[in-house]
Amino acid sequence: MSEKLNEILRANSIYHIYESNAEDGNVVALRGLSVSMHEGEAVAVVGPSGSGKSTLLKCLGGLMKPSAGSVELAGTRMTRLTGKQLVKLRQETVSFIFQDANLLPHLNALDNVAQPLIHQGILARTARPKAQSLLDKLGMGERSYGMPDQLSGGEQQRVAIARALITNPRLILADEPTGALDPITSREVLQLFKELHEESDVAFLLVTHNREVASFCERSLELREGRFIAQHGTNVDIGDLSDSRELIIDDTGTVTLPPDVLLNLGGPGRFEMSDINRDVLHLERVEDEKISVSTGKDTMVLSSHCLACKYDYAESDIQLCPECGSTRPMINY
Ligand SMILES: Nc1ncnc2c1ncn2[C@@H]1O[C@H](COP(=O)(O)OP(=O)(O)OP(=O)(O)O)[C@@H](O)[C@H]1O
Ligand SMILES: [Mg+2]
Repeated sequence: MSEKLNEILRANSIYHIYESNAEDGNVVALRGLSVSMHEGEAVAVVGPSGSGKSTLLKCLGGLMKPSAGSVELAGTRMTRLTGKQLVKLRQETVSFIFQDANLLPHLNALDNVAQPLIHQGILARTARPKAQSLLDKLGMGERSYGMPDQLSGGEQQRVAIARALITNPRLILADEPTGALDPITSREVLQLFKELHEESDVAFLLVTHNREVASFCERSLELREGRFIAQHGTNVDIGDLSDSRELIIDDTGTVTLPPDVLLNLGGPGRFEMSDINRDVLHLERVEDEKISVSTGKDTMVLSSHCLACKYDYAESDIQLCPECGSTRPMINY
């Protein structure tokens, strides 16, 4: 089979702009990013708060139309579909899992899980046994008749996972699926994702701040300000992305240096490109700038605390705030 046939998702240079009449004006949330995923692949998306992760997921799953660019789901270009065709393609191909389980409060666990099938016109008496067997599989068999407000956060998330699986999707898009859970419950839910990944052909795109989620994915994409700036291989440590980073130059020729790379480089400035060859780019700071960088006055260092939530980074060199997910900025020393 060719690679193309195995592709479950492809986005070509997508942009998304949130238009606003407010003073701040429009927000460019995605800036020309491209990605492709294969059947059964697990990919993590990591990046600071506001970098565009949720916007990306909504565009990829057809919940929102990107302002520009195209998205192909299972080989079908979504932008060309009518509303009805799009709903059908989504129902047959993709499921979402959000940070909060988003269960329907008036339905019990079983009916929440059965609901996507019933929505497709399948009879409840056919859908319910399927829902029950999924709940059994996810260790929730005894809680089928529990109402959402009687379930713990982890139980609700299991129900949400069962609901996502009942349509046999080929792709699951999950936006911080363990974000609202305590570490132990989060680990249990994560174990489920791992097992699903090993046992089935379903592909996952997981937005996460959680190290363990990222580490079981085949690769992680680092998103910053609406662009993929780097890719990381398996067993990524999202507390220290520098170890595994491969920088991405996108098709507009843009490359964004992560703060720690910028730090090692001695901060912003002008660079000569003394050597550009296929596969190699050599940058060297121009002579007259070298002095000012080394005087100490303009030396930049990673901030000692999070500017958003005041988290104290102490001696660590992590890049994303573990409390709020904000980017750790560089400041003048
Ligand atoms: N409905 C909206 N209207 C206007 N701007 C929006 C809207 N939703 C998101 N944005 C802006 O778009 C950018 C990307 O937001 P997005 O929610 O995709 O980020 P995120 O990476 O998911 O962040 P977080 O980690 O906090 O969930 C941000 O600057 C955000 O303020
Ligand atoms: Mg988000």
